[in-house]
Amino acid sequence: MSSSLDGRTVVVIGRGSGLAHAVTLAARAHGADVVVAGRDQEALGNAYDDERITAEHVDVTDDDSIAALARRLGRVDHVVSTASARARGRLGELDREALRRSFDTKVIGPVMVAKHFAPHIAEGGSFVLFSGVAAFKPAIGYLGVAITNGAVDFLARSLALELGPIRVNAISPGVIDTGIWDSMGEEGKNAYFTGLRTRNPARRIGTPEDIADAVVFAMTNPFLTGVTLRVDGGEPLT
Ligand SMILES: NC(=O)c1ccc[n+]([C@@H]2O[C@H](COP(=O)([O-])OP(=O)(O)OC[C@H]3O[C@@H](n4cnc5c(N)ncnc54)[C@H](OP(=O)(O)O)[C@@H]3O)[C@@H](O)[C@H]2O)c1
Repeated sequence: MSSSLDGRTVVVIGRGSGLAHAVTLAARAHGADVVVAGRDQEALGNAYDDERITAEHVDVTDDDSIAALARRLGRVDHVVSTASARARGRLGELDREALRRSFDTKVIGPVMVAKHFAPHIAEGGSFVLFSGVAAFKPAIGYLGVAITNGAVDFLARSLALELGPIRVNAISPGVIDTGIWDSMGEEGKNAYFTGLRTRNPARRIGTPEDIADAVVFAMTNPFLTGVTLRVDGGEPLT
């Protein structure tokens, strides 16, 4: 049986909108106190009006800031990292610096988060990392996204083995309209979304709440560890 998040502390790393926002609200709805942590503490603080949500500073590419956050918070139950700096583009457009930043944020950052937070995780606690559908359905223009998301899948399994009984899982969202597709332009985004909706077995685009639901499941199911939950409408099957 799943345990509730009542009385638990959940740390959600990322921005004050998008999937991190949905995860924060879902964790609160399940009874948790939430610490939202990211590069812009003020914006995070302004994103919520709830005394059981507190904002903290962390930059996952900066080990001192991760270690300081872990020290400041002390005992916590679950840590969710949504941080990402994707490197999109075809091979010819990719440069080393963008790929480095992407790996640093999405892969090495969570390794260091796990390193510094593991000693503070309460019994029954877990880490939830973010992978993504590009890892499981490669597409031209998404090489950099695929390899970082793929690394997160391996990372979750490696950490689960090493950190047990602390559980470690990853979530792989499909395409979710959180603003990250806006660079395609209104028309381009609509065409892309319509194509996905028509093709994928779920026949729709996912919502932030679909993903937040999976994060709550990963945090509360005591026998789930070392897996990537693919919440993607079946897109890789097409
Ligand atoms: N939305 C989708 O369709 C989709 C699909 C597959 C996977 N995902 C994954 O789901 C997660 C959340 O995605 P999202 O759509 O909500 O938007 P997102 O923009 O990818 O959210 C990630 C946020 O991480 C923050 N960040 C970047 N570098 C950081 C650092 N060094 N330290 C701390 N935070 C940092 C950024 O916020 P600030 O600029 O405020 O710091 C960024 O907006 C990501 O891991 C993403 O790759 C999303």
